[in-house]
Amino acid sequence: MSVKPTPELRFDASPQHPHPLMALLRPVKGERILDLGCGQGFWATKIAAAGAAVTGVDTDARALSVLQDRDVAGIQDIAVRECDGRALDYDHAFDAVFTNAALHWMPPISDAVRGVYSALKPGGRFVGEFGGHGNIASIRVALKHGFALAGLDFSDYDPWEFPTTPAFCDLLQNSGFDIDHIDTFPRLTPLPMGFAHWLEHFMGSIFEGLPDGKGAAVKSNTLSILRDVMSRGGDDWIADYVRIRFRARKPA
Ligand code: BEZ
Repeated sequence: MSVKPTPELRFDASPQHPHPLMALLRPVKGERILDLGCGQGFWATKIAAAGAAVTGVDTDARALSVLQDRDVAGIQDIAVRECDGRALDYDHAFDAVFTNAALHWMPPISDAVRGVYSALKPGGRFVGEFGGHGNIASIRVALKHGFALAGLDFSDYDPWEFPTTPAFCDLLQNSGFDIDHIDTFPRLTPLPMGFAHWLEHFMGSIFEGLPDGKGAAVKSNTLSILRDVMSRGGDDWIADYVRIRFRARKPA
């Protein structure tokens, strides 16, 4: 690995791009941009507002239909496609691929990175942010114990991959990308609807699929393990997110 995991270049927010992720992406009118794991289109609509033609892909059909039905004045240029980010089949189609809070849901991330590389035109950029090593560490420890108390092994159900920054740099470079920015930072994240809601929202389908209806027990084990650590009182919980933010380029 020849890239230091500390930022060499800074991409500070500017009046034109007030969020650092948009400052990294710098979408330009007329560009074709893929939003990988677009969800309901929070970022896709911002990118489209800059004049880019956006394609949003996600496995969540319900989220895609919310995005499709959204009536945002002046923003028409968003296409959506139900697609697993590990099975992209685009070929030299996009000026940029953007992703936020999605890559860690796509283990092995290497499959997604390979598809992104093929999807980009020469010189195209891959910009994003996702969970790095240590992301939601306390939640993962509690889940491990919550599963074990129910006689299950969390690693059999773990849906995430949170690579270290050097490992992610290696992956990008071995896939052919040049890295021009990478930064890793902790981000304490309030969970305004509480941790029970977070667990249900992100783990509900996994809990439902557990054998012998053990999902409810695992959920309540996990909640009680973490309550003293993460709750600042009642439903006011805070989670220990760690982000990797990066910009890489396919050689021209
Ligand atoms: C996140 O880091 O954004 C995240 C990780 C796991 C579940 C939900 C969100």
